Amino acid sequence: MQSGPIGIFDSGYGGLTVMKEIVDSLPQYDYVYLGDNARAPYGNRSFETVYEYTLQCVNALFNKGCKLVILACNTASAKALRNIQQRDLPLLDSRLRVLGVIRPTTELIGTFSKTKQVGVLATLGTVTSNSYPIEIEKFFPEITVHQQACPIWVPLIENNEFDNPGADFFIQKHLNQLMAKSANIDTILLGCTHYPLLQDKIKALLPEGIALLSQGKIVSNSLTQYLERHTDLENLCSKNGKMAFYTTDSTEIFDQQAEIFFGKKLKSEYLHIN
Ligand code: DGL
Repeated sequence: MQSGPIGIFDSGYGGLTVMKEIVDSLPQYDYVYLGDNARAPYGNRSFETVYEYTLQCVNALFNKGCKLVILACNTASAKALRNIQQRDLPLLDSRLRVLGVIRPTTELIGTFSKTKQVGVLATLGTVTSNSYPIEIEKFFPEITVHQQACPIWVPLIENNEFDNPGADFFIQKHLNQLMAKSANIDTILLGCTHYPLLQDKIKALLPEGIALLSQGKIVSNSLTQYLERHTDLENLCSKNGKMAFYTTDSTEIFDQQAEIFFGKKLKSEYLHIN
């Protein structure tokens, strides 16, 4: 089997916040990013739709030569990952791998909280899947997880409206809803890869002393360790330090918006998915 780039997938731009950290930690590998911008956001879509769209995008990344694909999207990780791993990959090639962002986060989250009351801010899809409470329970049964869906946040971010004063109303609204569930929450996870763009605003609106976690570093550390453990797969990851970016919608808009998430300019190509 020929080596190929590591694939990174998100419904839109959010996965770029994770890719940025991965590339910083592991610059030697080649990467292909795919944002399904034409069909984003996924957050309010049904289980079946998120699974169907995610599988199409994962297959597109396999067609680009990827042997390992990271779902840098909580919604896709919550609603599609298990089916893809259990149903689809065995029918394709047992050497291909798809990993998500929920597991690496839940393995660590308990180490941050003293009160054992943890908040998770995420899309409606991630919240209703209950993936975070279920997975956290496996590693930290003593922790109580309080979830809050923030359905307006991704559209605000994708439309570049998140830094305007109008956005503050919706940010504050969902933070209030979360904090009303327990006054003892001392750790809040940004359980959507778009949300790091709101980090400064959220910090400013929260009471002091609450730890705010975003996933980029957690996922990049976990991937580093995963590749150290899985040398067969690591050998199938090509190492020329190259990156390619694909979007299912306008490349001009993608290139303008993506810089905010990735921290540097990039040039995307259009990819048709069906
Ligand atoms: N960035 C994605 C996540 O982490 C979802 C955004 C969307 O709703 O499409 O959940």
